[in-house]
Amino acid sequence: MDQASRRGFFIMSQKDFVLCLKLLLFLLVVSQFGTDGRQQWPVPYRRFDSRPDVDSYCEALYPFCPTGDPDGRIPFMKDGDIISIYRLQTPVWEWKYGDLLGKLHVMHDAVGFSSLDTGTNYTMEWYELFQLGNCTFPHLRPEMKAPFWCNQGAACFFEGIDDLHWSQNGTLEKIGEISGSQFNDLAQWVQDDNRTGIYYETWTVLSDPSPNATAWFESYDCSQFVHRTYRKLTELGAKLSSRSQTNYTKIYLYSGEPTFLGNDSDIFGQPALKNVATDIRKFYYSFRPHQSFAELAVSLLEAFRDVVFDKSFYLYYNFEYWHLPMKPPYMQITYEEVPLP
Ligand SMILES: *[C@@H]1O[C@H](CO)[C@@H](O)[C@H](O)[C@H]1NC(C)=O
Ligand SMILES: *[C@@H]1O[C@H](CO)[C@@H](O)[C@H](O)[C@H]1NC(C)=O
Ligand SMILES: *[C@@H]1O[C@H](CO)[C@@H](O)[C@H](O)[C@H]1NC(C)=O
Ligand SMILES: *[C@@H]1O[C@H](CO)[C@@H](O)[C@H](O)[C@H]1NC(C)=O
Ligand SMILES: *[C@@H]1O[C@H](CO)[C@@H](O)[C@H](O)[C@H]1NC(C)=O
Ligand SMILES: *[C@@H]1O[C@H](CO)[C@@H](O)[C@H](O)[C@H]1NC(C)=O
Ligand SMILES: *[C@@H]1O[C@H](CO)[C@@H](O)[C@H](O)[C@H]1NC(C)=O
Repeated sequence: MDQASRRGFFIMSQKDFVLCLKLLLFLLVVSQFGTDGRQQWPVPYRRFDSRPDVDSYCEALYPFCPTGDPDGRIPFMKDGDIISIYRLQTPVWEWKYGDLLGKLHVMHDAVGFSSLDTGTNYTMEWYELFQLGNCTFPHLRPEMKAPFWCNQGAACFFEGIDDLHWSQNGTLEKIGEISGSQFNDLAQWVQDDNRTGIYYETWTVLSDPSPNATAWFESYDCSQFVHRTYRKLTELGAKLSSRSQTNYTKIYLYSGEPTFLGNDSDIFGQPALKNVATDIRKFYYSFRPHQSFAELAVSLLEAFRDVVFDKSFYLYYNFEYWHLPMKPPYMQITYEEVPLP
């Protein structure tokens, strides 16, 4: 370590110390860990029995799944039919505003199907009900103590594949075939997956950028849905292959071992945890969802300052808060290969 960074470390460690005291207090109050004190990493993404109704505060800028069946029904295929499977990928429009962001390869992924029998094709994707910003950052509502999240995500299945949309600047590639009955089994699986996996998670949190890093948290986004679908297809007997490299966008945070804080009522309902509650609100103030690109740029700078200088991030996962002691390189967006199963 050189002298400058050693000095930097000393200044930060005082802040960290104060934070540690707060967190220790917490752990005395909320002891969520098992008796052996060991936590499972990565923290398993929580499955729910059913999907709750959406709060009317959350408003979609674009309606979710406008051309899908309102009840999420998926057409039944004949046993003898042959269904082609397509890998679909396209750059995310939200990031096309700036040249810089466009070059980051922030991609949206989906799976396509087409029936040999009927010639009809279909697109299946999983995405945010209220846009990415609302899944990544909560709203701070004056009348509410806890930050308010519009973070549901869901599967959308609809008729048609928009060839131009996927193939220009993206990917539209046939990667395999299944029978009609295998497709029907997949349809059942999608509906179960959609009912029990209800919220979107943008971040993957790792201990460091090395290949041996510990994963503290896994994202739950459109590309994870595509990977789950490919795994299910393989399990059902499909053989998948691609002529090109299959790369996906990952948005990483890097931190030391996370500390569990609690859910809304643990943190925001108890006077003893007022300081942590205040810190979380303050933290998310700079991360609030944005209406304009200029605001986003300013807030990202503020957020970066918080993360780099305070080495602190409050992650919301499974509707509970965790504190991440952040470390370099803090955040990274990669476009890396995940081979087909
Ligand atoms: C996010 O949520 C707010 C509040 O519900 C809503 O007005 C907005 O349209 C949503 N989408 C975006 C991109 O901010
Ligand atoms: C998934 O759930 C959403 C939200 O309830 C619903 O709109 C959609 O139709 C469902 N999709 C499937 C494929 O079941
Ligand atoms: C999907 O169907 C549309 C309309 O029939 C057609 O234009 C398009 O080429 C098909 N795409 C694929 C990948 O099968
Ligand atoms: C593909 O990229 C070009 C150049 O950036 C752009 O003009 C075009 O609109 C893009 N096409 C689609 C379908 O997004
Ligand atoms: C990763 O782990 C393997 C086996 O434990 C070890 O041989 C390798 O040196 C490690 N790599 C890094 C970058 O730490
Ligand atoms: C929050 O966690 C506590 C346990 O710490 C639990 O009793 C309570 O039901 C949870 N509240 C919600 C809204 O999930
Ligand atoms: C795809 O991923 C591989 C390995 O993860 C990487 O070397 C390559 O540069 C990536 N391709 C693009 C176009 O970024």
